[in-house]
Amino acid sequence: MKFFIDTANLEEIREAQALGVLDGVTTNPSLMAKEGISGDENVIQHYIDICEIVDGDVSAEVIATDFDGMVEEGTKLASLHKQIVVKIPMIQEGIKALKYFSDKEIKTNCTLIFSPGQALIAAKAGANYVSPFIGRLDDATTDGPELIAQIRLIYDNYGYETEILAASIRHSMHIIKCAEYGADVATCPLSAILGLLKHPLTDIGLAKFLADHKKASSVTV
Ligand code: G3P
Repeated sequence: MKFFIDTANLEEIREAQALGVLDGVTTNPSLMAKEGISGDENVIQHYIDICEIVDGDVSAEVIATDFDGMVEEGTKLASLHKQIVVKIPMIQEGIKALKYFSDKEIKTNCTLIFSPGQALIAAKAGANYVSPFIGRLDDATTDGPELIAQIRLIYDNYGYETEILAASIRHSMHIIKCAEYGADVATCPLSAILGLLKHPLTDIGLAKFLADHKKASSVTV
């Protein structure tokens, strides 16, 4: 499974990259706003900065919601760097834009996926990634990770190569569930990735190993 980080914070991206397990980055307008990034030039520079930190795909979302606007904006974004993937919302005009970019061999990520039908039509339109928002489904008392399993089944039935990019991940257990259900990618906050490392028995075991080593080293023969 690929690990992406879901942030526009350059420090967090650097920290995740330094771990050596990072495969890409996803951003969205809310995450960009959280970092105070606004204005065309700043937005463009920020995407370029992100691409220079990581080796993999970097999703950059269009703001336009009409076909012509999405094509214009997405084309501009894609021209910034070879790692940019154009993020397109799951709306009727977005489907047309996905098909347009697919025909031009520009990579896309269809975002705001909340149902298997939406994932099916995005794959049919040629999206490279679909982003099911599992945390927001959980918030709405619907089983978010279950959607990953449904999409996996549908894509495998027909051999769609669209990658399932599980998004809106809130904690480490979401990552485990996504891995069990066959997501291709999990885009996560850094805290959820770091949470995978932790187990109290590891800490207790390590403390004992070190204490035993110290005891043995202090014994003089
Ligand atoms: O990638 C989409 C993701 O950022 C949404 O996450 O936590 O706002 O539901 P959240």
